[in-house]
Amino acid sequence: MTYVVETANLTKIFGGKLIAVNNMDLEVEEGTIYGFLGPNGAGKTTVIRLLLGLIMPTAGSIKVFGEKMNLNSAHLRKRIGYLPTDPKLPNKMTPITYLDFVGKLFSQTKDQRISRLSKLIRSVGLLPSASREVKGFSTGMVTRLGLAASLMNDPDLLLLDEPTSGLDPAGRKSTLDLIEELDREKTIFVSSHILSDIDRICTHVGIINEGKLIYSGSIKEMKKHIQSNVLRLELDGDMNTFCDRLASIGGMAAFERRGNFTVEISFVSDTSTLKAIQDVLGLIVECNLDLISMNSSTSRIEDAFLKLLEEEESRGFTRAV
Ligand SMILES: Nc1ncnc2c1ncn2[C@@H]1O[C@H](COP(=O)(O)OP(=O)(O)O)[C@@H](O)[C@H]1O
Ligand SMILES: [Mg+2]
Repeated sequence: MTYVVETANLTKIFGGKLIAVNNMDLEVEEGTIYGFLGPNGAGKTTVIRLLLGLIMPTAGSIKVFGEKMNLNSAHLRKRIGYLPTDPKLPNKMTPITYLDFVGKLFSQTKDQRISRLSKLIRSVGLLPSASREVKGFSTGMVTRLGLAASLMNDPDLLLLDEPTSGLDPAGRKSTLDLIEELDREKTIFVSSHILSDIDRICTHVGIINEGKLIYSGSIKEMKKHIQSNVLRLELDGDMNTFCDRLASIGGMAAFERRGNFTVEISFVSDTSTLKAIQDVLGLIVECNLDLISMNSSTSRIEDAFLKLLEEEESRGFTRAV
């Protein structure tokens, strides 16, 4: 297995007291799209800055492309593309002059810069604004230009720090589409606090909470691991009686009405689930309801995520040793 990023016991303490990154072993395989998921303040940006060698760890080690990363690792940074959260771009520049400037930082020749920036401006959809000043660009346009800039050096590893932050649904979608379309040879490390974004584009996920990595693995494995037994029923008829009687069925953890004719039932996950489902189906018949559709949801990763956090909290300090 080739790891593009490998950390061991990575720890960052700010000001001698705030543990922003806590003993983290992170492994990112080559060619994966790795989602780094965690709530605000979890330590995502700190980890990304550590991976870039912009700040030094308090303890532990970082290898990028198999080599130790430190403040002097310019040759490693040349192979990394970085998009910070809410990138600040020089107001007076245009996409063309800005990308040309970025290319110069990487010592690219004029021919290399022009061919690269023309291609990138087109692929991020900024052709109509290619020579407009950045001042007045929407957040979505700034993000797309930032993404283009992070790709100027044709990096092998891309570090994207909350690329969908501050975007409206359309902007989010187009940004995620762009990331998904990127060259499969690249390893992409993308942070977010939005689960559905990670679920949509990533192959692997690391979940971080209060500086600790509480899960790392493929998205598929994660879903299997924490699959919740949720049954979603769409019905037609008198729902009130049905819902009143539903509460008395054993083996059921909770149910929730979603809209007039949809109900979501979660079951206690043990052997009584099948019996409970049979009882629910029986009740539908008794209440003279029509069953329009029934599906069991295995992809509700919001629930899964919360469950993982709960498990982690209940373990408390035992995990810290
Ligand atoms: N330079 C710094 N000095 C002191 N504390 C910091 C610094 N950078 C981040 N922190 C703190 O570290 C924690 C993690 O922050 P951050 O990595 O930005 O989280 P995230 O990106 O997941 O929102 C927060 O409590 C934050 O306030
Ligand atoms: Mg952050």
